[in-house]
Amino acid sequence: LLSSSAPADEAHRLAMLADLTNQATFDRLSSFGSMEGWQCIDIGAGDGSVARWLAARVGFQGRVVASDLELDRLAPCAGVERRRFDLVDDELESEAYDLIHARSVLLHVADPEAALKKMAAGLRAGGVLVVEDADLTTFEACDPDHPHRAEFEACMQRFTASMVAAGVHTKLGPRLPALVSSLGLVDVDCAARLLILRGGSAGAMLWKRNIANALGDVAAPALDDPSFWFASTLRVQVWGRAASSDPLGREKI
Ligand SMILES: C[S@@+](CC[C@H](N)C(=O)[O-])C[C@H]1O[C@@H](n2cnc3c(N)ncnc32)[C@H](O)[C@@H]1O
Repeated sequence: LLSSSAPADEAHRLAMLADLTNQATFDRLSSFGSMEGWQCIDIGAGDGSVARWLAARVGFQGRVVASDLELDRLAPCAGVERRRFDLVDDELESEAYDLIHARSVLLHVADPEAALKKMAAGLRAGGVLVVEDADLTTFEACDPDHPHRAEFEACMQRFTASMVAAGVHTKLGPRLPALVSSLGLVDVDCAARLLILRGGSAGAMLWKRNIANALGDVAAPALDDPSFWFASTLRVQVWGRAASSDPLGREKI
C-alpha cells in the first residue's frame, strides 16, 4: 500500500526510509559488540543499506545475506549475498545465524508471530534476533493550535484506516516486546523512539510520498510547511538472544 508502482520511485522511497531509520539501527547493532565472523541475514532488506553496513563489520570469515521478496532494489555489493526470500512461505535454515534482523517488515506479513518463530529457529546458540517496527497510529500535530492540525490529523486517520483495511498491522511495534519474549530467547529488551518531524524535512517528504501513494496529495499543505511540527511514528526496537550452553551443559546467559 505504501509502495509506489514505479521502480525508481520505490527505490527512492526505500532510501528515504533507510535515511530516517539507519542511525538508530546501527547504534543498536553496534551495542552487541564485535561482529567479526558473524553469519547475518537482513530479512526484507529493502535498499540493502543495513546489509552493506553489516558487510563492513563481519570480516572475511563472516557472511551477510540481504533477502527480500524483490531483489531488483538491492544493488550488488561485495560481501553481500542477495537472496529472494519470502518470510511467509520460504523456509529459513535452522540454527544458522548469529544475527537475524528485520525492520519494517513484520507489520506487512499476515502472521507476525509465525514469522518471529521462524526467525528465532534460525538463530545459532548465542545468536541475536533484532526486530524493529512502528506504531503507525501516533501521528499528531505538536501544536494543537496550528492551522494545519485538524486537516492533517483527519488525513492521518484516513491513512491509518486504509492501511488497516489493506492488512497492515499498524500497532505492531508496541506488541513486539511481548511477542519476542514468548519465543524463549534470553536477554530480551527493547527501546522506543517517537519521531517528531518538521514540515519540509526529509522525514516529512517520506510521509508525503507514503500518503500520496495511498490517498493522493492530501497532506501536502501541512507536510510542506516548515512551521508545522508533528509526531510521526513510534519506532520500537526489540532484541533477544538464543541461549547458549557451555560444554558442561549449563546455560550461559
Ligand atoms: C518498508 S520496507 C523496509 C525495508 C528495510 N527493511 C528498511 O527498513 O529500510 C519493507 C520491505 O519488506 C519486504 N517484504 C514485505 N513482505 C515480505 C515477506 N513476506 N518476505 C520478505 N520480505 C518482505 C518488502 O519487499 C520491502 O522491501
